[in-house]
Amino acid sequence: MKFNAPRGTNDILPPDTLKWQYIEKKTHEIFSNYNYQEIRTPIFEYTELFQRGIGEVTDIVEKEMYTFADKGGRSITLRPEGTASVIRSFLENKIYGQAQPTKYYYIGPMFRYERPQSGRFRQFHQLGVEAIASNDPALDAEIISLGMRLLQDFGLDDLELHLNSVGCGECRPVYVEKLKKYLIKNKDQLCDNCQSRIDRNPLRVLDCKNESCQKVIKDAPKITDNLCDSCADHFDEVQEYLDILDLDYTINPLLVRGLDYYTNTAFEIKDNALGAQDTVFGGGRYNGLAEEIGNRDLPGIGFALGIERLLLSLEAKDIQLPVESGVDLYITVIGDKAKKESFKLLDKLRSKGFKTEIDYLGRGVGSQMKSADRMNAEYTIIIGEDELNNNSATIRNMKSGDEKEIQLSNLLEEMKKLVDKEEL
Ligand code: HAM
Repeated sequence: MKFNAPRGTNDILPPDTLKWQYIEKKTHEIFSNYNYQEIRTPIFEYTELFQRGIGEVTDIVEKEMYTFADKGGRSITLRPEGTASVIRSFLENKIYGQAQPTKYYYIGPMFRYERPQSGRFRQFHQLGVEAIASNDPALDAEIISLGMRLLQDFGLDDLELHLNSVGCGECRPVYVEKLKKYLIKNKDQLCDNCQSRIDRNPLRVLDCKNESCQKVIKDAPKITDNLCDSCADHFDEVQEYLDILDLDYTINPLLVRGLDYYTNTAFEIKDNALGAQDTVFGGGRYNGLAEEIGNRDLPGIGFALGIERLLLSLEAKDIQLPVESGVDLYITVIGDKAKKESFKLLDKLRSKGFKTEIDYLGRGVGSQMKSADRMNAEYTIIIGEDELNNNSATIRNMKSGDEKEIQLSNLLEEMKKLVDKEEL
């Protein structure tokens, strides 16, 4: 073999593609119930959008972006996430001039140069939502419940919702200074990585899994005790709305997300069964992002869910999505004349919506039947010259083995009855 797919990427093959189609179909349905509309932005953007949007001192921007110069010498980056692009598009297309809030969703591939492991890839897929131009805490609850509803619909109803508020441009810098002072005091007990984070991005220390750092973190000042009145009220109201929806959550003051644009509400939905990469979806408010990339003071909130992680979570719980491969009818042919007549029948059946298949390898009846079996055909029919001459053939239910003699000219009507689940 000369070529492999690049490290950290996956081919998604049938029958797995059926699961992806199912997830995408459900996403379109559920998101549209909540009145979110689909937006499709380019897969690459000018690098500066992500530098400004996600933040210079984040793992994504520092280490993980697929960045290259195009033939015109511009710096281009494959999108590592969707939010910055959606806000860029919202501003560029002046959607703020229309009735608000704007509620968008997207499904598609994202790219991060990370060390691949279970649940972590270099090309992965997100489905996400962004609600722009409202700071209403009810919208925070709507966004969170929408994500939970989606998971519930796939059969996942025991995942943990972690909730935090990371404050705003007023109260967070004050908190960060307080945290910094505390971390400097306890510097000796922090791992090397965290020691270097104190100055650059002290909030990320709260995320460290190192045992000795954990001891320091346990007694660190908490953002939830340091919110300004307006942020504290907002956070209270978000919780009130979540309570109205009967959604369980754990307040986790250590929850800091890996992107710099967050303000106020931040959340993650975790599945313990997933190991190190246990976040199925995460998101929050980003009330300063539109200002950062387009000088407009517009609030926003959203989340993104990793489709690969969703599939891993389903697998860990042995949940099968209701997808079916297979065909309604396999036409087994004997001889050239029958093949040609059957080819016409095949076309007619397909045009009426029946999934129908025929042999293309000139195989004998036995091999064709095996092939029908492998294809999960629900019914087969054998057509040879005798059947054509007598306008009669036997249709067989592959599961039960039941058979029925039908008039060939009636095949379409018979299939209609059968697929409507009338027994043979
Ligand atoms: P994020 O937490 O970076 O947030 O990613 C969201 C989700 O994408 C993660 O919870 C995970 O399921 C999935 N994910 C991230 N990186 C990988 C990877 N390397 N391999 C597999 N799955 C991955 C964002 O991207 C924000 N844009 C979410 C958001 C939207 N916040 C507000 N609006």
